[in-house]
Amino acid sequence: MTQETLSIRNNSTGEEADFDLLKGTIGTPVIDVSSLNKKMGLFTYDPGFMSTSSCKSAITYIDGEQGILLYRGYPIDQLAEKCSFLEVAYLLMNGDLANTQQQQHFEHEIGQHAMLHEAMRSFIDGFHYDAHPMAMMVGIVGSLSAFYHSELDMNDPEHRRISAMRLLAKMPVMAAACYRHSIGYPFVYPRADLSYCENFLNMMFSLPSQKYIDKDNYIDPVAVKALNLLFILHADHEQNASTSTVRLASSTGANPYACIAAGIGALWGPAHGGANEAVLSMLEEIGTVDRIPEFIEKAKDKNDPFRLMGFGHRVYKNFDPRATIIRKACHEVLESMSGSDPLFDLALELEQYALKDDYFIEKKLYPNVDFYSGIIYKALNIPVDMFTVMFTIARTSGWVSHWLEMMAESGQRISRPRQIYTGNELRHL
Ligand code: SDX
Repeated sequence: MTQETLSIRNNSTGEEADFDLLKGTIGTPVIDVSSLNKKMGLFTYDPGFMSTSSCKSAITYIDGEQGILLYRGYPIDQLAEKCSFLEVAYLLMNGDLANTQQQQHFEHEIGQHAMLHEAMRSFIDGFHYDAHPMAMMVGIVGSLSAFYHSELDMNDPEHRRISAMRLLAKMPVMAAACYRHSIGYPFVYPRADLSYCENFLNMMFSLPSQKYIDKDNYIDPVAVKALNLLFILHADHEQNASTSTVRLASSTGANPYACIAAGIGALWGPAHGGANEAVLSMLEEIGTVDRIPEFIEKAKDKNDPFRLMGFGHRVYKNFDPRATIIRKACHEVLESMSGSDPLFDLALELEQYALKDDYFIEKKLYPNVDFYSGIIYKALNIPVDMFTVMFTIARTSGWVSHWLEMMAESGQRISRPRQIYTGNELRHL
């Protein structure tokens, strides 16, 4: 099959060169400009990587215009309806859904790796009680390489697999430990008789020597179902900012714990994973439906840095399929748990108001995954400053999948972008 090419002509010099047009299984073709500097002495310029592909990947596919999200080819709504988070994590990491025996072994191994090194408790205790849990997570996840410095031969696929399993297994344990530290409660250890999401709820909310209890003294299946759904919807999303950070850090050969800690730092930003926490703060600031117009005008005012948190997306320009699923789950969770939440009612009103506003229509700004997720987390009694930590737990499955995919590729090169220099000409002291 002849390779399709595309010519680039420099109109100021008349120079012209051909470049390969690469096509994936589905999606937008890309121009391979890796030889642009060699052939034409030029670099590309694309701040924010609006039109730049950084890698090839077989893990997730997004069609922003159609609102399509596929994990290893499976539509997100089918996975959300039919699978558990750990079944989706296995799919992302291994390329196919596990059979019963494979899934049982996978979940048994997750249980085996869940315990933290006991010395980590004193590390966590070193934080002030009011440290933001994301600040703690960046620190303690990075510190894993101090506790697990064996099995770090990144050329050994088994060492890579074990590191990925450790991260997936320990993330909810570290997250719950950060929360317990912030309220001065003793840490709760993971248990072999509980599922991934049951364990997390138990480690977060159980009272000493008791399973996590709610009004009926059992782990609420509605809460477990909601967590599985939210973790699945947040598991992976192509080359988003935090995943790209993990890939860039990994390209230097840094150990996986340091790379994932870098991803956590990137996710924390309010333009990215920090948006779910910012949405709740925004809804609480708006307070009542009659103040919605005031905040919509602020979001449209170019002189006002305020943005409508939970709206807009670099890729989705018609709707975020995850927001659609989460909005429906919000109704179910609130009806079964707390009846209603004025913030959810306010969110629905805000969504309807924004979707009718010319500015949001013209800019193609729709609710994204973060718009409703915080309301469910709030209904589950997850504190607001833990919302991005919840995103971290889920996205660890995507980050380690991209890390495994990247580390398995031969000929990996360090990521090292170029720039346009705008500083001083050569000058002498
Ligand atoms: C996530 O990449 C991923 O896949 C991320 C994610 C994932 O799963 O990993 O989906 C998770 O991070 C979701 C996004 C969560 N962030 C927020 O909700 C924060 C609010 N949203 C914005 O900050 C913004 O929409 C972004 C960051 C999400 C997208 O930014 P872009 O693609 O760079 O868009 P832009 O900033 O260039 O905005 C285009 C225009 C601008 O106006 P003009 O300069 O053209 O006049 O739209 C405006 C922006 O001012 N705009 C908004 C807005 N978002 C964009 N105006 C008001 N409110 C907003 N929320």
